Amino acid sequence: MIYFDNSASTFIKPKQVQKAMLDALSFFTANPGRSGHREAIKTAMEIEKVRDKVSAHVNGDITIFTGGCTHALNLGILGYVKSGHVVCTENEHNSVLRPLQFLHDKYGVDFDIVKQTKKGSLSFDDIKQYLRPDTKLVITNHISNVNGDVANISDIGKNLKERKITYLVDGAQGGGHFKYDMKEMNIDMLALAPHKGFYSPQGVGCLVINGDINLDPILFGGTGTNSLELYQPLSLPERLESGTLNTPNIIAFGAGIDFVEENFIEINEKMDDLTTFLHYELSKLPVQIYTSTENTNGVFAFNIEGFNSSDLATILNDKYGICVRGGYHCAPKKHEALGTIENGLVRVSFSYFNTLQEVERLILAVKHILIKNKN
Ligand code: ALA
Repeated sequence: MIYFDNSASTFIKPKQVQKAMLDALSFFTANPGRSGHREAIKTAMEIEKVRDKVSAHVNGDITIFTGGCTHALNLGILGYVKSGHVVCTENEHNSVLRPLQFLHDKYGVDFDIVKQTKKGSLSFDDIKQYLRPDTKLVITNHISNVNGDVANISDIGKNLKERKITYLVDGAQGGGHFKYDMKEMNIDMLALAPHKGFYSPQGVGCLVINGDINLDPILFGGTGTNSLELYQPLSLPERLESGTLNTPNIIAFGAGIDFVEENFIEINEKMDDLTTFLHYELSKLPVQIYTSTENTNGVFAFNIEGFNSSDLATILNDKYGICVRGGYHCAPKKHEALGTIENGLVRVSFSYFNTLQEVERLILAVKHILIKNKN
């Protein structure tokens, strides 16, 4: 089996991530922050180490652990916007579009969806015309989960800072592949998906906050502090982290960050090599490619004329043992922009553990399908 659906979840988890998860289930099983005994404190200290590690990895101030990246984006949006106007882009995932639609319908919050004018990348020039005096928040997906298009987040962050507009970046696909520096890039909130580029388990995400961003909780309950109060505590992170944390996943996420930091150059070289090779070879064939040549971050999208993209993904799976994602990718506006509303598209997404030989097998499979379709 060849697994090319790493943008959904990376398939192979490094040994050190597996070990951290097992260790957590053996040694850090008490409830962090709920009791004063040594086991609870020991577990809480492990969580805090990972919290600091995440914040340091992206140079942000504080990390809020969530149930996933969707939860993190919901927190950044619903916890921040009460009125006024929001700008997002056509590259957004439904984790951004749906909370915005909810805010619009329920509370009259206005939002605009920026159109990307240049093939392959989104810049501040695309965003500028949509900004209004009441724009509270700009949200951009960093690397599109549909076709790997990239937003120039440094340029966008710099311009938004000058205009005193808060900037939330969806780093679901960028995390682990890209070195974020929230301070340098003027990112106020960054949502990450550990189970993708950090090679960590599913079930944990985080929102990293940089600077003075006041978020309301979107989840209320026990925090282990101020227990006699009916009010949610004001202090972070507990204000935004009600309920028992996902300790094993958080500890494994810490090991995932170590893995990425230890192998960062190799991971990037691998993404670049595999994406470039696939692009180069498929562009010689009669296939429709939706990824720009310069975007070599491990996300590649294509279609073959005459095939429904879901059917093509099924053929690749059933006949060739290759796992890719077909159909729609939870980003309706991006499909509109790419002209794939009818048919969706086939996405191939790589991890550090994929090889050139595996990519060759995909290229051969595509050639074979094309020949069979011709006959
Ligand atoms: N958002 C994930 C993907 O792109 C699940 O597949």
